[in-house]
Amino acid sequence: MKFLTKIFLVIFATLLITGCGSTENKQKQVALLFPNTNAGGIWKQVGETCEALMRDAGYDATTQFCTDANDQIAQLKEWIAKKPAAIVIAAQDTDVLGETLQGAKTAEIPVIAYDRLIMHTDAISYYASFENNSVGEFQARYVEEKLNLKSGAGPFNIEFIAGSPVDSNAPLFINGAIEYLKPYIDKGQLVVQSGQISFRDIATDGWKKENAQRRMEEILRKYYGDGKSLHVVIASNDDLAEGLINAEAAVGYSGAKTIVTGQDASANGVANIKSGKQAMTIYKDPAILCAKIIRMVKAVVEGSQPAINDVTNIKNDMMTIPSYLCIPIIVDIENINIVKY
Ligand code: BGC
Repeated sequence: MKFLTKIFLVIFATLLITGCGSTENKQKQVALLFPNTNAGGIWKQVGETCEALMRDAGYDATTQFCTDANDQIAQLKEWIAKKPAAIVIAAQDTDVLGETLQGAKTAEIPVIAYDRLIMHTDAISYYASFENNSVGEFQARYVEEKLNLKSGAGPFNIEFIAGSPVDSNAPLFINGAIEYLKPYIDKGQLVVQSGQISFRDIATDGWKKENAQRRMEEILRKYYGDGKSLHVVIASNDDLAEGLINAEAAVGYSGAKTIVTGQDASANGVANIKSGKQAMTIYKDPAILCAKIIRMVKAVVEGSQPAINDVTNIKNDMMTIPSYLCIPIIVDIENINIVKY
């Protein structure tokens, strides 16, 4: 009897040490799929930060960036076949993942949308982002203050540069700004000389600064020659802001200094603010967003409740998605030191 007890204890201890026979000690695999890093931006930093935080939280996280939308679909299919505990995805193209995500749903793999809301699917468990409308509104409020619009100053010339037409965030950003500035446009305090204000006219393929530069060069040549001033450009992120900065240099723009907005507090954006070429940016600390995502991963893995602050407003065409929206921060030369990376 004593001998058997001893054997039993040895086996039990071995199981405890190796973790064999239990899945509890096995790290849960989490796939982190992000857009391409070609257009500059901050996705590389986002991916690196988020993977490190996931690992600290005890998950076996793997980050992948895609080259284009088809590549992301291929990555997603591979992960679905591997059956990870969760897939976190910032869609390269928010319109094309529906069919593939159906596969994740069938395989019962929870999917969490990161930063960009994915359309045409009901396979999303949670969504976390920053308040995307606020991004544009904060840019607009900044301009309102700098130009003293509240006290009736003007007229000032303004142009808009929006993001990619296949990113569901892009219209939210620019509409947030346009809606806020609309009363000033209606009153004639702000004038869009090019007349380009509809999303179709001002969108920028792939969020690429070269594409923004091309469009702004045309506008500058046509409407802002002979020292005529372009006072403000609402650019939806730092890459697009750089497109405008480069366009002004390329055409030899000689009007008043343009107030250019941005978003991301990317390395280039921060450098452009420090050198006075860009007025402001919107800082969306990836560590803050990723912390919310980790809570969501934990929830789908453990069946617990994540932190959610919006259960009604975030909808795609197929479902309402429980979400957490973080608040972005306005950064200009005065507080640029709060940017952590
Ligand atoms: C993100 C922005 C980013 C843009 C281009 C958007 O979906 O929210 O932070 O600048 O994509 O990558």
